[in-house]
Amino acid sequence: VARPDFALVGPGRLGLRLADRLVACGFECVAVRGRHPVRAQRRAPSAATWDTWDDPAEWRLPAVVFVCVPDHAIAEVGRLLACRHDLDGVSVLHTSGLLTADALDPVRRRGGTAASWHPLQSFPPADLRPTPWDGVACAVEGDPAAVEVGFEVATILGLRPWHIQPVDKPLYHAAAATAANLTYLLVASTRELFRGVGLPATDDPHPLAPLLATVVSAALSHPGLTGLTGPLARGDRETVARHLQILPPPLADAYRALARLVEDGRGEEGRT
Ligand SMILES: NC(=O)c1ccc[n+]([C@@H]2O[C@H](COP(=O)([O-])OP(=O)(O)OC[C@H]3O[C@@H](n4cnc5c(N)ncnc54)[C@H](OP(=O)(O)O)[C@@H]3O)[C@@H](O)[C@H]2O)c1
Repeated sequence: VARPDFALVGPGRLGLRLADRLVACGFECVAVRGRHPVRAQRRAPSAATWDTWDDPAEWRLPAVVFVCVPDHAIAEVGRLLACRHDLDGVSVLHTSGLLTADALDPVRRRGGTAASWHPLQSFPPADLRPTPWDGVACAVEGDPAAVEVGFEVATILGLRPWHIQPVDKPLYHAAAATAANLTYLLVASTRELFRGVGLPATDDPHPLAPLLATVVSAALSHPGLTGLTGPLARGDRETVARHLQILPPPLADAYRALARLVEDGRGEEGRT
């Protein structure tokens, strides 16, 4: 499959990782644009960096443009691309989990095609460990030509592209944020509690890693809540009450709220 040249708008947490992966897979990055040109150039030294939105009229955009800016800036970037460039034959893909291709509507009015292209993965700041790409699911929707490009590029990068219905994006993204961000907050907070009781804090692997790996694997492979262990699974209310007394209030609130899912789950089982 041909590797089209690409441009990146938004060299942030996801954008830089994506550009690295694309380059490693044989694509050429011909331009990077951020809000701060010098910073964008420093982050992507090999690219022919645009330095303003006032490109010479004869400069043509490459066939693929990835827009990895915060959700609130996607429409503005679409408008700027459309007012500066003829977009005939150009596919513009944004990476929002929540918004659909329609956020890039102005691009269509200049002959371009638009898609949303969302990898179901977390991309922390670049100074942390590199994020794995292999096998990551990638939700794609939008105009047929841009979706085709999105599927091809995702496959070359080792991702698993799938079609999402535009109407499903808000619930999809809420589920992704709940799985990823709430898990992060729970693990980061309990890690501090373990530190307080003297659990040796080696980093690689952290002593919590085997427990978390087993729990995540059980939650992903068992139906409903059948893989749950501990006092909530055993219906041990006394132990749960002691936990709620000793935990810091925000964690006790989270524990209480999530415990309701166990009650709801039992209710569901009773009905089936
Ligand atoms: N990070 C993740 O884990 C992740 C995962 C999946 C999808 N996404 C999606 O990817 C998108 C970007 O997220 P992120 O976490 O990578 O954000 P981020 O780290 O904040 O990076 C955003 C980048 O966009 C640039 N930018 C902001 N406004 C701009 C504008 N008006 N014109 C041009 N560039 C602009 C910023 O430039 P400056 O650096 O110059 O400010 C920065 O380089 C979001 O839609 C997000 O939902 C993120």
